[in-house]
Amino acid sequence: MLIAECLYFLRNSMIYHEAIVVGGGLAGLRAAIELNRNNVRVAIISKVHPIRSHSVAAQGGINASLGNHPRGLYDNWEKHAFDTVKGSDYLADQDAVIRMTKEAAERIYEMEHWGCPFSRTSEGKIAQRPFGGAGFPRTCYAADKTGHALLHTLYQQIIKFKQAAERKEITIYEEWLVTDLVVEDGICVGVIALDIVSGRLEAFQSGAVIFATGGAGRIYGRSTNALINTGMGMAIPYWTGVPLKDMEFIQFHPTTLLGKNILITEGCRGEGGYLLNNKGERFLEKYNDSKKDMEVAPRDIISRNIMYEIMAGGGFDNSYVHLDLTHLGEEKIAKRLPGIRDASMEFVGVDPVTAPIPIQPGQHYTMGGIDCNTECETSIKGFYAAGEAACVSVHGANRLGGNSLLDTIVFGAIAGSNAARYVQDLESRKGESASYDALKRAEQRVDVLCKSEGNEVPVDIKVALNRVMDNKVGIFREASKLKDALHEVKVLQERYKRIKLNYAGKRVNLGLVWALELKGSLDVAEAVIAGALAREESRGSHFRTDFPKRDDTGLLKHTLAYFTPEGVKLGYKPVNIGTFKPKERKY
Ligand code: FUM
Repeated sequence: MLIAECLYFLRNSMIYHEAIVVGGGLAGLRAAIELNRNNVRVAIISKVHPIRSHSVAAQGGINASLGNHPRGLYDNWEKHAFDTVKGSDYLADQDAVIRMTKEAAERIYEMEHWGCPFSRTSEGKIAQRPFGGAGFPRTCYAADKTGHALLHTLYQQIIKFKQAAERKEITIYEEWLVTDLVVEDGICVGVIALDIVSGRLEAFQSGAVIFATGGAGRIYGRSTNALINTGMGMAIPYWTGVPLKDMEFIQFHPTTLLGKNILITEGCRGEGGYLLNNKGERFLEKYNDSKKDMEVAPRDIISRNIMYEIMAGGGFDNSYVHLDLTHLGEEKIAKRLPGIRDASMEFVGVDPVTAPIPIQPGQHYTMGGIDCNTECETSIKGFYAAGEAACVSVHGANRLGGNSLLDTIVFGAIAGSNAARYVQDLESRKGESASYDALKRAEQRVDVLCKSEGNEVPVDIKVALNRVMDNKVGIFREASKLKDALHEVKVLQERYKRIKLNYAGKRVNLGLVWALELKGSLDVAEAVIAGALAREESRGSHFRTDFPKRDDTGLLKHTLAYFTPEGVKLGYKPVNIGTFKPKERKY
């Protein structure tokens, strides 16, 4: 190390943890618990307090083939795996799907034993409700607040383990924004993070890093996602050389609250709710792919059919349809869907006990993410990814409702266990020099941003990005609109270079945080659009009006998006097909 670097580190003490988990949602907390169980000193770095992570907003449930519902008696993990692969339009990797569905029951019972307040059957078993694309009612739930129940359960375990004398500590850095991944000789050696409160950047050295930073939903305007889901956690590894996989596959949830796009859980339909057009008809029966399963057909299909119905004049104000729960009765709504009733009354003034809820499809989930394998390993040694930020891939071209929460706790645990093994085998602590360089570069970047005298307002760029994605990269896609979208995002990337912050101070500068993340949103959006333009077929959530058929000959493969300073470059890799041979996806 050079003398200047030594002096620097005397002034700015290097922070060291054996492992670092970035993200305090379900996948991150579960990974941290697994590291801690393996006696690894772990730190969680989170942009928000962990219980404010977006996982808390998940509503309808988590899948496992427990067979607790009277109609679920013959369920098993193979059936869950088949439904998941079929739902994915055969793009999911079948080894990963098998891993997830096989481990589902164990993870659910673990959550139960840790105190998760699941809703119960009359016999006291964990209750299960029907969800879209599932052959059996296999979605376990805690009323319509399942994410909340799971996240608080895991956070309580974290607090318990933090205090358990026999274990090594878990440290939580809340309200810190990770800005860089530090890599030396192809090995991940830590991260750089901004303490949002003090405005100080710090180098965190570590043996292993797990990104569990959630999705990129907020590249869209009409989204169920929290504002924190900017895609920055995908952009950082992308900038560092890890490809993003299958980014073109964006899930549009069929039922989001009109205008606000707050999630109105699939659980409403699982409990028996109807989708109605402006004539009061259950219009899904008019469409071949939803007439059998009706309101519990998969999400991609229902979202498209809602849009077809609106385009055919069956909507209200050309923009929404009704979700009718009135026939379920007040008692059932109060017991199973209390949050939905509150949200509907609060935000659109409709009590679902007496009137239908106005709903429209909205962006909900990114099936794609950081390319990693079934062990959550990426192309950089010591760097792992889990949860929505990652693409293992278990969801392929279309995720089934209830599989995202399962993905978080199954692959969170896998990432934690593999990272633990990896750090335990490390011989020495590495990365001082690389951390020093990365920290200096990050400081310069932040200084340039704070001092910039440009004329572009960051929020204008954000709003323009949202408009492009909503209008040109939505449920129905076509080459001309996608080309326009790509061009417009490139213009926005240029405009970004001229942004000016309206406050240049460092302390609690949320404008700075948003500006740093906006760059991530723009680059992730570019990867989404480029993948969508190149994928000249329709598969799952990716529907090309100019290529309406699935093309298994040319495109049964994963898209890989690589960052270059000139823009995204695409590559492909094969899908792991197992026993479930691709066939036409019929419901
Ligand atoms: O509709 C919902 O409750 C969402 C569930 C999910 O995305 O898995």
